Amino acid sequence: KKVLYSGMQSTGNLTLGNYLGALKNWITLSDEYECFYSVANMHSITVRQNPTELRKHARELLTLFIAAGIDPDKNCIYYQSHVPAHAELAWILNCYTYMGELSRMTQFKDKSAKHADNINAGLFTYPVLMAADILLYQADVVPVGIDQMQHLELTRDIAQRFNSIYGDVFTVPEAYIGRVGAKIMSLQEPSRKMSKSDENPNGSIYLMDDPDTIMRKFKRAVTDSEGQIRYRDEQPGIKNLISIYCACTGKTPEEVEREFDGRGYGEFKPAVGEAVISVLRPLQERVAELTRDKAYIDSVIKNNAEKADYVANKTLRKVQKKVGFPDKI
Ligand code: TYM
Repeated sequence: KKVLYSGMQSTGNLTLGNYLGALKNWITLSDEYECFYSVANMHSITVRQNPTELRKHARELLTLFIAAGIDPDKNCIYYQSHVPAHAELAWILNCYTYMGELSRMTQFKDKSAKHADNINAGLFTYPVLMAADILLYQADVVPVGIDQMQHLELTRDIAQRFNSIYGDVFTVPEAYIGRVGAKIMSLQEPSRKMSKSDENPNGSIYLMDDPDTIMRKFKRAVTDSEGQIRYRDEQPGIKNLISIYCACTGKTPEEVEREFDGRGYGEFKPAVGEAVISVLRPLQERVAELTRDKAYIDSVIKNNAEKADYVANKTLRKVQKKVGFPDKI
């Protein structure tokens, strides 16, 4: 079976973008591949975190993965920090990655502008840790939203560079970008992606928002004065709402245009709200149910960490040999 790898940061406040852009595709693909999904808590500390909150969010995220339909008996879901090989390989790969490459990463530029008081080395080498995540498991495919594409390209470059020096050590991974939902935009500023760190909470739908909140946010979503429901760049607000509606219902943009032909935004916006509520409500119920089953979640964390550790170490040993580190005596 081919291998799939993906990860998500445990920074709390996951948005509908995380779900539609990534998590939903993970589920669709999970039958076809041998899958590894990490709670990327080592990535999270590139921005200052409250330790208690970080621990809590990591567990919530892992619970969410299961609630969303990832079967932890068939797939490996684990905490990145439980597998030391990630940090070890990241160090090695740091020595095969250029400052110039990392300086070009748009996420680094955005984040360092936003956290100007804490532009730490981890923020800079963040994509190298992500490359280590992926390459340790010899992943063939990595489902991500569009905002992670640049990091994935860098991962491929690092893998190819390493392979060209040492022979075929790493599988060079391909990105998987979903047909719809790969870039969900803010409901308030449709030119910007929906983001968990948005200051305006009305711009984002959080996965744990209650139905009234969801409906209110959609009713307030910024649109335009065209008055037509068309999937086109000139109407970014409406285009985004159509994308969300499609991703939640499985319909195509053309079908949605036809369905709402001649109808106004006053009808369309609540329909999108309903579609989102019917996706999120069962998810929230399942999260609540699973959260109560502490022993079960604990066993998932333990068993999967062991499995991930085993697979990751196989690649790490190979890499250590290649670069010339001696075996332990
Ligand atoms: P993160 O935690 O920011 O986001 C997790 C996933 O959600 C996608 N996403 C979106 N998709 C569509 N529309 C949006 N508005 C939107 N916002 C976020 C992201 O593209 C991502 O797929 N560095 C990664 C986590 C990571 C990782 C990995 C991913 C760590 N190691 C290895 C893949 C493979 C990150 O910060 O994603």
